[in-house]
Amino acid sequence: MKSRFITFEGIDGAGKSSQIAAAVALIESRGIAVVQTREPGGTPLGEKLRELLLHEPMHLETEALLMFAARREHLAALIEPALAAGKWVVSDRFTDATYAYQVGGRGLDEARFAALEQWVHPHLQPDLTLIFDLDPAVAARRLAGTGQAPDRFEREQTDFFERVRGAYLRRAAADPLRVRVIDASQTPDEIKKAVEEIVSRSCFK
Ligand code: TYD
Repeated sequence: MKSRFITFEGIDGAGKSSQIAAAVALIESRGIAVVQTREPGGTPLGEKLRELLLHEPMHLETEALLMFAARREHLAALIEPALAAGKWVVSDRFTDATYAYQVGGRGLDEARFAALEQWVHPHLQPDLTLIFDLDPAVAARRLAGTGQAPDRFEREQTDFFERVRGAYLRRAAADPLRVRVIDASQTPDEIKKAVEEIVSRSCFK
C-alpha cells in the first residue's frame, strides 16, 4: 500500500487532538508504520520555533514566514524521509492552517502564500485532510474550560476565528476530494466514527 500523508485541521478548541490519537491507532491496527507529528513543530528546531510562534509578540509577516520556515525543516527532517520509507504521516496541522490563520484570520495576501507553498513543498500535498468544523463560540467555551493559559492564537476574539473557519470551509469547497469537513459539534464517539469511516474509505485500499 502506498504511504499516505494525512492532516488534521480546525480552529483552536475544535477537539481534533484527541481524535488524532484514535486515527493513528486505527492505522497501526492495520500493521502500518505511522509517524504522528504536528505543526508548527515536529522537529527539535521546529519545536523551538513553535515556542516563539505561540508566545512571542511578532510582526504578522514574521509569523507567516516562521510558519513556512518550520514547515521546510519539518518536511526535510521528518515528513519526506518517513514517506520515502513507506511510512504514513499524520500531522496535527499543515499548510491549510496557514491559509486559514495567516490569510483568513490575519488578512495577509493569499498570492504571497501560493509562492511560499510552491517554494517549500512544490510536489507534496496531503492525501487527505480532515477539518474539524465548530462554531467559534462553542470552541471558545471549550478552551476556557481547560483552565490553561491561552497562547497568542487562543487569545484572539470570536471574529478572528469566524474568519479562520470561513477560510477552512473555502479550502474544503475548493478541493473536496482531499479536504473533508467533520461536524465537531457531535459527541466524541460520533466524531471518532466519522474519522474512522473517512480514513478507511479514502486510505485503506
Ligand atoms: P495547535 O496545533 O492547535 O496546538 P494546541 O492544540 O496544542 O494549542 O496550535 C498551534 C497554533 O498555531 C494554532 O493556534 C494555529 C496556529 N497555526 C497558524 O496560525 N498557522 C499555521 O500554519 C500553523 C501550522 C498553525
